[in-house]
Amino acid sequence: MMINDRITILGAGTIGMSWAALFLASGRQVTVCDPAADIESKMLSFIDSAKASLTALGWEHAGSSARLKFDCNPESAVRDALFIQESIPERLELKHQLYQAIEPHLTEGTVVATSTSGLQLSQLQLGFNNPTPLILAHPFNPPHLIPLVELMGNANTSQTLLKSAELFYQSIGKQTIRLQREIPGHIANRLQAALWRESIHLLKEGVASLEDIDKAVAYGPGLRWATLGPNTLFHLGGGEAGIAGFCQHLAAPFQSWMDDLGAPNLDSETIQLLIQSMAKINQKTSSDEMRQRRDQLLVEFLQSVQALETQ
Ligand SMILES: NC(=O)c1ccc[n+]([C@@H]2O[C@H](COP(=O)([O-])OP(=O)(O)OC[C@H]3O[C@@H](n4cnc5c(N)ncnc54)[C@H](O)[C@@H]3O)[C@@H](O)[C@H]2O)c1
Repeated sequence: MMINDRITILGAGTIGMSWAALFLASGRQVTVCDPAADIESKMLSFIDSAKASLTALGWEHAGSSARLKFDCNPESAVRDALFIQESIPERLELKHQLYQAIEPHLTEGTVVATSTSGLQLSQLQLGFNNPTPLILAHPFNPPHLIPLVELMGNANTSQTLLKSAELFYQSIGKQTIRLQREIPGHIANRLQAALWRESIHLLKEGVASLEDIDKAVAYGPGLRWATLGPNTLFHLGGGEAGIAGFCQHLAAPFQSWMDDLGAPNLDSETIQLLIQSMAKINQKTSSDEMRQRRDQLLVEFLQSVQALETQ
């Protein structure tokens, strides 16, 4: 029996359902624990909707619910689990309550991985008497498609369990990165926040429409960022001299743009502006069409990455 053959999903909303679909597609036995009344039908319909993408990405058991169980009692749901992915709402007291309920029922050596986007590991650890099994494992929506998982443990975490979780995520196609210390929003959400902040600033200042701002990312730097990160791309942009050459030519202008970046607040007026601007885009393209485009292109891109990496 491998450490992660029997997985329990605590909380199966947007993120937990997507994790569950991936774990099932990889052949694991999955127990879903979520008090929502319609959880079984929602979960089954999600597995169905994710089947085509997961099949395209080569998962043998995509769409199968043969190894799926439901148990809305967290204490019994975790009893046989060898790996637990917690994705309940982002509220510290709720997570603490759940950790207190499950701790006496955990099997020795079980990992409890939290999907939290913004809560910090040290705060979450206060929900345990012995926090060694708890690791931070932050995915990107939808986790059954997006490879990134941000991992973190600290001095109170079992390094053995952290390492085994890392190997597990890698074995199901995830790209893991490690946070060396805790910080609100971890790494990738901070990077998203930086870009979103400036795009809102440009919109508010009337520099461009929201549609054109999104196009500027999707057809420009965003395309490149998906191939390599921004620092490496600038290294390539510096030609033979690499990042040193890039800085020699462009550090001064970049510094002046950095100094000029905006700092808008997400107040109600700004949110209204975003809603109205997005409604204009929706007049041309429905959200369903956008979702379809996103998932189709994501799968095709990931297939190309898989093909390149197995050459
Ligand atoms: N939505 C995202 O884009 C995203 C991305 C990465 C990480 N996260 C993180 O994942 C976690 C879940 O977010 P979400 O967007 O899936 O939330 P969600 O509201 O869609 O789902 C939460 C689910 O947890 C269930 N639940 C509530 N209390 C529970 C309990 N005590 N035991 C078991 N289930 C319980 C709810 O019924 C619901 O189905 C949060 O910590 C969030 O920060 C979210």
